[in-house]
Amino acid sequence: HNAQRLALRGDLLDFRAAPAWGQLDPGSALRFQPDHWLLIENGRILGTQAEAPDASWQQIDHSGRLILPGFIDTHVHCPQLDVIASYGAELLDWLNTYTFPAECRYADPAVARLGAERFLDALLAHGTTAAVVFATVHKVSADALFEAAQSRGMRLITGKVMMDRNAPAALLDADLAQSERDCVDLISRWHGRGRLSYAVTPRFAPTSTPAQLAMAGALCRADLSLYMQTHVAENRAEVAWVSELFPDARSYLDVYAREGLLHPRAVLAHGVWLDDADRAVLADSGAQIAFSPSSNLFLGSGLFDWVAAKEAGVAVSVASDVGGGTSLSMQRNLLDGYKVQALAGQRLSAWSGLYAATRGAAEALGLADELGHFGAGTLADVCVWDWAIGPVAKARDEVARGLHERVFAWMGLSDDRNLHSAYVAGVQKFSRSNSR
Ligand code: GUN
Ligand code: ZN
Repeated sequence: HNAQRLALRGDLLDFRAAPAWGQLDPGSALRFQPDHWLLIENGRILGTQAEAPDASWQQIDHSGRLILPGFIDTHVHCPQLDVIASYGAELLDWLNTYTFPAECRYADPAVARLGAERFLDALLAHGTTAAVVFATVHKVSADALFEAAQSRGMRLITGKVMMDRNAPAALLDADLAQSERDCVDLISRWHGRGRLSYAVTPRFAPTSTPAQLAMAGALCRADLSLYMQTHVAENRAEVAWVSELFPDARSYLDVYAREGLLHPRAVLAHGVWLDDADRAVLADSGAQIAFSPSSNLFLGSGLFDWVAAKEAGVAVSVASDVGGGTSLSMQRNLLDGYKVQALAGQRLSAWSGLYAATRGAAEALGLADELGHFGAGTLADVCVWDWAIGPVAKARDEVARGLHERVFAWMGLSDDRNLHSAYVAGVQKFSRSNSR
């Protein structure tokens, strides 16, 4: 028969379940199979084994390298690669000074297309094989992302941004009817096609009228398979502004709750300034928080309380939030996440961090049957990493005692330079030798 059979040899690391918080002995949640073969047949994972497979398999020997499920970045902005690392502003100034002008350029279909391709290739070059992405307000920017993801075979969740106030005129929907028509048309053409899903995308409460938020909620209610993405309670000035704009809401989160925007397929970025009542509402709804540590530090937004979210039963994934965030590297963001926990007297283990960036995100998105781990039948979104690059990381790797110490040092010292290759549904989409 003509099955495509690919076997990768290396140190396989993935998760069967959520590891216990703070525990360095991961028990059965972790599946570490050093020097094993990962078998991929017709783009799907068939299984793992210690011995080499027979000659019907194409064999690639990465022994001495780390093989992980591709990372899932649950909140990142395609058009904002152009404003990453912009100096000196908190959220609301940063949006007006850098971000909105950059997003205006995506009205041009050529800019949107090139931007989408460059962006997805950049994700792949950082070991991120699936993502939940903000396009811009322009319909063409969402089309461009869906097309570019489709041609790469990537799992992508995105949508056109909805804004109808408090932003430059060039970035506002003309009216409610046009905003809804654009969403409905994009949903009908892309949602559920291959690995693509649509996310209803009101940018954040200040840039939508109550009528637009209500329309977004109605879209979600009409099709429960749709995702929803937005921002919530990121920055103190933003929170104060929302309480002025929505005086009847109990809290910032309540603005979304009242419109039916909180559901199991909702992804809310940040959630730095939530209270216990908000966390209870989130847990009840099944919505997840996309913790964006490098962004929260860079924009001076605040310190997200992961432990409070966890104890309330809220799902938490990890996100780069580029261009507010300063790197697409999930390792860099996990290290920033570790530092945020450290400031609160907490510790983020390598297990909890890597789980959140792989299987945890897949579970929270309802996609764990498709990706995020090496379970049989999932699509083979797989990345091959060098354990250490350069003298400092190499020396550190050599003296590491025990698996957690070694993997934690990898999480702390590695980044996109460590990526050797990335596979999407079993097809190599990035290779270091090709790109250098
Ligand atoms: N809140 C509303 N829009 C944005 C954005 O583009 N980035 C961040 N970090 N927060 C936002
Ligand atoms: Zn964001």
